[in-house]
Amino acid sequence: MSAVPFLDLSRQYKTIKPDIERAVRRVFDSQRFIMGEVGKRFEEEMAHKTGAKYAIAVASGSDALYLTMLGLGIGANDEVITTSFTFFATAGAISRLGARPVFADIDRRTFNLDPQDVERKITKKTKAILPVHLFGLPCDMAALQAIAKKYGLFVIEDAAQAFGAAYQGSPVGSLGDAAAFSFYPTKNLGGAGDGGLVTTSSKPLAEKIKKLRDHGQSKKYFHAVVGLNSRLDEIQAAVLLVKLKHIDRWNDQRRRHAQAYDKAFADIPPLERPSAPKGMRHVYHLYSVLTSKRDEFAAFLAEKGIGAGVYYPIPMHLQPCYKSLGGKPGDLPVSECVSGEILSLPMYPELSGGDRKKVIDAVQTFFGRKKK
Ligand SMILES: Cc1ncc(COP(=O)(O)O)c(C=O)c1O
Repeated sequence: MSAVPFLDLSRQYKTIKPDIERAVRRVFDSQRFIMGEVGKRFEEEMAHKTGAKYAIAVASGSDALYLTMLGLGIGANDEVITTSFTFFATAGAISRLGARPVFADIDRRTFNLDPQDVERKITKKTKAILPVHLFGLPCDMAALQAIAKKYGLFVIEDAAQAFGAAYQGSPVGSLGDAAAFSFYPTKNLGGAGDGGLVTTSSKPLAEKIKKLRDHGQSKKYFHAVVGLNSRLDEIQAAVLLVKLKHIDRWNDQRRRHAQAYDKAFADIPPLERPSAPKGMRHVYHLYSVLTSKRDEFAAFLAEKGIGAGVYYPIPMHLQPCYKSLGGKPGDLPVSECVSGEILSLPMYPELSGGDRKKVIDAVQTFFGRKKK
């Protein structure tokens, strides 16, 4: 049996190669590589797609988070509540500001922040809630917004994995005070290198972030605030503009693969499938399942040539770099349990029907629904 890679970006590239090459060549012909017309057009299209009034392209998703919080005035002595079950960048951005990440637990069915635990973690120092739409599924934004309103907190979406997802019909990127996207190449909307973007409908915040990403300049060589260099290259913007034309279809393809997996795994009770609560459009950056036999399951899939990955093996509150925050095993039981049981299966638009069948057959075989 031939292998099914966990992810194969070359399949997508083959379908858009001439358009990408043309778009990149145009940037070279212009010799304008930074802060030009292509980037501006990309920002306009991203604002339109997310329903936010403003989109500010930056150098990475990590910087999008950092610059958003910097723009909101979050810094030393402030606390930001976020999920422990995420990629490090979410927490790292809070720490880079000198603020303290406060980790809340997750809901086992969605892998996203548990609003009740968020409310328990609020103190006088809390300034913001930073929900992560993990694996492409929006968080319970109504509950989180209600808490934010009650305590006067900002809500910043980490939408790095969720471009194209929607909550009650509204796209992610328009659900909080601001949102951060990542265009890391493996993301649903991925560039040809690093890239990121902030969306917001607040004009003052948008203007502040525009300055901050360009050394704090409001006009050339006039530095209104201390900023940094975090701009998106024209080449990245050109690649992303090509991909934007296809992203809705690609996300629909991911959703169809997820439906097929869901159907095939429905009668395997030891395998918990990812759930998408009513009113949420999941875009399946990853399709992740839970099983108490995770490591054995992963080894079996590897033996069958099926790619799989553990996202994420160690929750943030137990990371060595956060030891000083005092987190210990048992603090966030759901995040800890999920870290030990989760496994992500191949999920990308270009999976063929044959690939999907191989994945399904291997899963069914491991759980005794088919002969080994
Ligand atoms: C949840 C989450 N937040 C933030 C980031 C940071 O994005 P980037 O890699 O573009 O800095 C990523 C991706 O890497 C992510 O998965």
